[in-house]
Amino acid sequence: MCGIIGYLGFRPVGKILHSGLKALEYRGYDSAGVAVIEGGAAVRIVKDTGKVDEINSSLKFDSLEGHAGIAHTRWATHGGVTQPNAHPHVSCGGAVAVVHNGIIENYKELREDLRSKGHAFASQTDSEVIPHLIEEGLKAGLPFDKAVLGACARLKGSFAFLALSSANPSELMAARNESPLIVGVGDNEFFVASDCIPFLDYTKKAVFLNDGEAVWLKAEGGFEMKFFDFKSGRQIMKEISEIKWSASQAQKGEFEHFMLKEIMEEPFVFKQSAFQDELVLKDFAKGVLDAKDAFVVASGTSFHASLVGRAWFKKLAAKDLKVVLASEFALDSESLSKDSLVIAVSQSGETADVLDCIRAAKAAGARIFSIVNVVGSTVDRLSEKTLYLNCGPEVGVAATKSFLNQLGVFCLLAFAAKGEKVDFAELGVFIEQGLEWNREKLKELAKEFKFRDNVYFLGRGASYPIALEGALKLKEISYIHAEGMPAGELKHGTLALIEKGTPVVLLNPPDSSFTHALNNGIEAKARGAKIIGVGVENNENYDLWLQLPKIENPLFYPIIETIPLQLLAYYSAVERGRDPDKPRNLAKSVTVR
Ligand code: AGP
Repeated sequence: MCGIIGYLGFRPVGKILHSGLKALEYRGYDSAGVAVIEGGAAVRIVKDTGKVDEINSSLKFDSLEGHAGIAHTRWATHGGVTQPNAHPHVSCGGAVAVVHNGIIENYKELREDLRSKGHAFASQTDSEVIPHLIEEGLKAGLPFDKAVLGACARLKGSFAFLALSSANPSELMAARNESPLIVGVGDNEFFVASDCIPFLDYTKKAVFLNDGEAVWLKAEGGFEMKFFDFKSGRQIMKEISEIKWSASQAQKGEFEHFMLKEIMEEPFVFKQSAFQDELVLKDFAKGVLDAKDAFVVASGTSFHASLVGRAWFKKLAAKDLKVVLASEFALDSESLSKDSLVIAVSQSGETADVLDCIRAAKAAGARIFSIVNVVGSTVDRLSEKTLYLNCGPEVGVAATKSFLNQLGVFCLLAFAAKGEKVDFAELGVFIEQGLEWNREKLKELAKEFKFRDNVYFLGRGASYPIALEGALKLKEISYIHAEGMPAGELKHGTLALIEKGTPVVLLNPPDSSFTHALNNGIEAKARGAKIIGVGVENNENYDLWLQLPKIENPLFYPIIETIPLQLLAYYSAVERGRDPDKPRNLAKSVTVR
């Protein structure tokens, strides 16, 4: 779960790699580094621990010269956060440099084998075996491309890597297996990166590599690219796709953080979740209704959206969806058959746990549908039918606008399953009101949360997943412990933790859950809790009221309730001096198991 980028072309490589690292930093920010071919024939490495800006202030990525280079921003898996463990890693002589995203599962055996052949290792990472394997191939007289393909054939696990060799200064090799990699094809220049954001300013033309594929890029004597199946070593043909996102969508603009920008975009972006191909939507809904067992697999925030989806499907289409955490799906996968449908829900489309579920489902002969944001992502490409979130690139590690659009897509689908259409025009206005009405109160509340160790979020029915989501958001970016739970469960144990002043956020929409949920809040208040009521009207039992707009169809309340909780998490993180875009220990797409 790291970000990698490579460049081969006519622009100053240091600047391109530096801006590429900044764009990919959401994928990992423990350490970063760059390798360039300098002076036409030597590999120069610059790397350290810390965030890209911190490292750049001392090591000056921008000043690196040359026209070929690779770079990496790390989220540590094997080996601690130290300078030697930062990428790029090099071969013994330093002639081959590699950046890698993923986990090489057989790295211990490979290390032993390479050690016995005289190779010495400078880091504790699994990745370092790759440049040494390539070096072995070169020593055996193979050309660079064949040496890289030979190395790929020996690797087990997940990888996307880029390789440079000082003996081949105008070439760049890249390979992928279970970790994303996209080639950006410009005029007389190539980019290869974990996602398209770093090269959107320069080109919208891209080739998506599949598992088991490699690419050889060459700049000298004309620009050339060749694709290979690295298992057979055979050359293959690949199509160039056009990317629809624009570079400005992936920039912060006037906002201090991506997270705030992405929340503030919601009134507009939410409506885009309705921009679906009518036929795909109908077929998708029919596929769900027809499936003997319809599983939904997802992680984190996407899982919470899927739980709301389940409630809507039950209510509107009387269809039971089996919503399972992707990381726990192995326990359910025994019940998969060719009559099952697996719906994978993922913003990134690259979450390893979700991909594992898809592979298990394929092996059982089940159908695969998906709901994703990133077009061309692995989940998208492995699915028979996909509905897109259409919320544009989401850069902040905390999922916000993608959650809302996942709710939007589930809502459309559940209505389509009932044979009805739904109009989101008014909801956009309500989302805007949800943002505006509570902002000042939320900023004040965040000042109080600064000193709190525990916060509880309660909800019933379709508001329960929103309580889970509110707690997850607060935890991941402000580092305040939070628990989301079904309001009625509080009295079965957790009530013991409530003491004077403990904040309890009570989701209290005016639907059938209203009175029961309020009573659960009152039980907590009687034990000293401070009740933060989220509802359309104030209530004497609320210590603080977060106002929701009144909407005609109570089914939509989960969408509206989400807004103040996202802002609460954001302001609490800022109040505590945390960086909401880059929470510690986390990264945007989790490509490890
Ligand atoms: C949410 O804020 C988290 N960053 C995380 O839980 C995320 O939703 C999860 O990792 C799933 O990601 P995906 O939607 O890209 O599959």
